[in-house]
Formats: sequence, C-alpha cells, structure tokens
Amino acid sequence: MSAAYLNGEYKPLDECQVSVLDRGFIFGDAVYELIPFYIKKAFRLEAHLARLKRSLAEIRINNPQTDEQWQAIIERLISQHDEANGYVYIQVSRGVARRDHAFPKDTAATVFAMLGAWPALIDGALDKGLSVVTVDDIRWNRCDVKSTSLLANVLMKQKALESDAHEAIMIREGKVLEGSATNTFVVHQGTVFTAAKDNLILPGITRDVVVELINTLALPFVEQAASLQQLQEADEVWLTSSTKECLAITEVDGQPVANGQPGPLWHQVYAAFQLQK
Ligand code: PDD
Repeated sequence: MSAAYLNGEYKPLDECQVSVLDRGFIFGDAVYELIPFYIKKAFRLEAHLARLKRSLAEIRINNPQTDEQWQAIIERLISQHDEANGYVYIQVSRGVARRDHAFPKDTAATVFAMLGAWPALIDGALDKGLSVVTVDDIRWNRCDVKSTSLLANVLMKQKALESDAHEAIMIREGKVLEGSATNTFVVHQGTVFTAAKDNLILPGITRDVVVELINTLALPFVEQAASLQQLQEADEVWLTSSTKECLAITEVDGQPVANGQPGPLWHQVYAAFQLQK
C-alpha cells in the first residue's frame, strides 16, 4: 500500500481514516492540489503551492502548513514511491465538526496527502489524438478555486465516457472554457486561443507551461476563449493537465478536427513540453 500523510503522521494509505463528520465528506468543504513529479522531482512546485494557498485563502481556511512544510511532505512521499514518476495529491478540508453550514469555531483543518501512480497514456493518444464531446457548463461561478466539490465535473466526464469520448469540453454562453479535468486550447486559422484566467476556469499549471512554450515558439496567440463555432472549424484542439500533459484532440462531437490527425503546432508544443520535465 502506498505511502500517505494524514494530520502530521506518515502511514500507509489504507491506514488513513477520517471522521464521517469531516466537512470535506459532508459538504465538499475542501480544496486540493495535484502535483506531478518526474524523476523524483516535483514539477512546478512553487506554482502548485501558490495555487493551493490561493484556493485556501479564497475559501477562508488558514493555510495549515508553511511552504517549507508542504515541500517536506511532498518530497518525503515522493521518496517513498516505488516509481520515478507519479503525482502527489493534497487535500485540505475545514475539519471535523457537528454538521452545520456555518464555519465551525476553533476546528483544525484536515490535512491529507497521498501518492498517485503515473497514469498510463491512453492507447493511441500520441498518434491518433483524443475525442471529446461538448457539454453545457453547469458549474458554479468560482471555477478558479480548486475545490473538491466536483460533482458537475464528474457528471460531465461520465457523459463523455458514455459517448465513447475521452473528455467533455464545457461551453458557457457560446464560449469554449475548459474540460472536466483539463484546460483547452483551440487553434483557429493559425492562431492559438485559450480562455483567460478568470473565475470561469481553473488556472491550470500545465496551461501556464504551454502558454510559455507558445510564446517561446512565437506562435500567434490570444488569451481569449474560442467560440463554439471556432472549435467546430478548428485546425487543431489540445487539452492540458498535470496528468495528461498536452495532448491533441482530433474529434469533437463525432466530427474530425481538420484532417483528424494531431496537427503540426501540437507536435511542436508537445516536443517542447518534453524538454521541460
Ligand atoms: N485536474 N481544469 C480543471 C477543471 C481541472 O480539474 C484541472 C486539473 C485542470 C488542469 O490543471 P493542471 O494543469 O494544474 O493540472 C484544468 C486534476 C489533474 C484532477 O482533478 O485530477
């Protein structure tokens, strides 16, 4: 059983237990982070910790650890993983209290972290690309908070799988925002579009890496959500996340994206991404 951390103690994952009154369980009153590591080194650790701090502040949970303490937990778990690559999942809830919507007084946050195995690449993902379906974005208006309240995302992902697709891309007011657990890039008439970082998307760390690479490669780029029509007419579509890196999407709602093959800009960005690891 893989190593984990709960409220100050390191122990095997199957020995970690939290109360049924934990507000993470009762209300989804919690935030999380997922930090990939390559060759035993956390990728973009500073950015992940900054986003965790921001999520905690936005939902008004005092950060229970300093950056140094977080780093120590993450590095200790990484050192105990039997593979060189993987990820660390961190979750902080508002703690255990009698069920009441109002914040409890003087309750310590529940701090949990566990290791995750590096996900196997979906068959054909690099050669053929992935397929997606579009769905209405039914989430709340604070999608910038990395909250564990992911019911809408869970329902969308399930809808994608039941439609024989890999991911669902959310559309709000005709704009392409992001996937159920990924950010989305659309290349339309040679220009790369991705939604700006506001309250309607999660500010993905992988998204930021890809934006840096787009700038380094001097690709035409606007930080603006593509329209649904631009998605349907796209030259290329990509998704990004900490567990999927940057993958090409070659089918949207059963229709091929351009010629149905991963495109030339994706190949450039993907190759550049591999050098970052
Ligand atoms: N999901 N958008 C949403 C809604 C996400 O849940 C995620 C990440 C991303 C990509 O963010 P990043 O590049 O920082 O991983 C965008 C993680 C991987 C998850 O929930 O498992």
